Amino acid sequence: MTRELYSIKNHAEDEVKKAGSLQAIQHLKVKYLGKKGVFTEKIKSLKSIPQEERPEYGRILNEIKNHIEALLKTEESQYKSSEMERVLQTQSIDVTIPGSYVPIGHLHPTTKVLNEIIDIFTSLGFQVEEGAEIESDYYNFEALNMPKDHPARDMQDTFYINDDLVLRTHTSPVQIHVMEKYTPPLRVVAPGKVYRCDADVSHIPMFQQLEGFMVDDHISMSDLKGVLEVFLHNVFGPMTSIRFRPSFFPFTEPSAEVDISCVICKGSGCNVCKNTGWVEILGAGMINPRVFELAGYDPDRYTGFAFGLGIERITMLKYGINDIRLFLENDKRFLEQF
Ligand code: PHE
Repeated sequence: MTRELYSIKNHAEDEVKKAGSLQAIQHLKVKYLGKKGVFTEKIKSLKSIPQEERPEYGRILNEIKNHIEALLKTEESQYKSSEMERVLQTQSIDVTIPGSYVPIGHLHPTTKVLNEIIDIFTSLGFQVEEGAEIESDYYNFEALNMPKDHPARDMQDTFYINDDLVLRTHTSPVQIHVMEKYTPPLRVVAPGKVYRCDADVSHIPMFQQLEGFMVDDHISMSDLKGVLEVFLHNVFGPMTSIRFRPSFFPFTEPSAEVDISCVICKGSGCNVCKNTGWVEILGAGMINPRVFELAGYDPDRYTGFAFGLGIERITMLKYGINDIRLFLENDKRFLEQF
């Protein structure tokens, strides 16, 4: 009778020894000590043991059960602690290792400069308006005093979508949209992308402009000069000299090309200013009465100035960049410098 118990003991010891994992040990616990486990069944069947053998049998059974139970317990805690060690070793955090670097992006240089420019004008009370990049022939040309056969259209290498629609060649059409929408006084800047079929070191087919204009009862050329002076001194520094050169645009009269003293050589002459000491920075003028007429404003009552500048050009001068194409190449070695 007890021989069977000893063979169960031997078999159980053998199985524990060969278990090899925490999972296998837990499995053996159920097998031997669980509700329907080997020892539980044996205890249940004690009553079928002849009365005179029962105490001895029970004692041995109990002894063996306790022995296996203790054995399983030590094995279980051993597997548990070595598992813990393994987890600690493979998953522990070494707080002395430097953190991993997450690169952070930043704004494109032209966006930075544009934001800076908009800040200056909004601080002077200008509001920001935007127009569409696809414009009708009327708003891009006709309403700006450039009829179909006007030679000034040749100055702007236009991308035509069809006979009537173009990719806007400048932001000046926003002047017309704004005048049709609001009555004076107007103080507006209109930034946006414009398109011209042209490409070299100083031209790209898509670039950004900012249009600015002011319309009211008594706006004069000195208002234009004052506003541009505040703006240019803010961007290029208070020592920058500014000069107006007579020019021509169909939508302004008189018109001017505005230059600043060369930001690279400070006026002494270099290859950026082609040894003149001056660099051209924007086009401007007094809004042509004909434009007011076409937009439905009374040209006898209102006067106004307008100017248009290239954001890439300002950014190039501000940072000493010599090739406009760099702005579109997305070369990180270039972009990371700003
Ligand atoms: N629209 C002109 C250009 O793109 C610039 C300009 C704007 C000139 C407003 C005068 C007044 O060349």
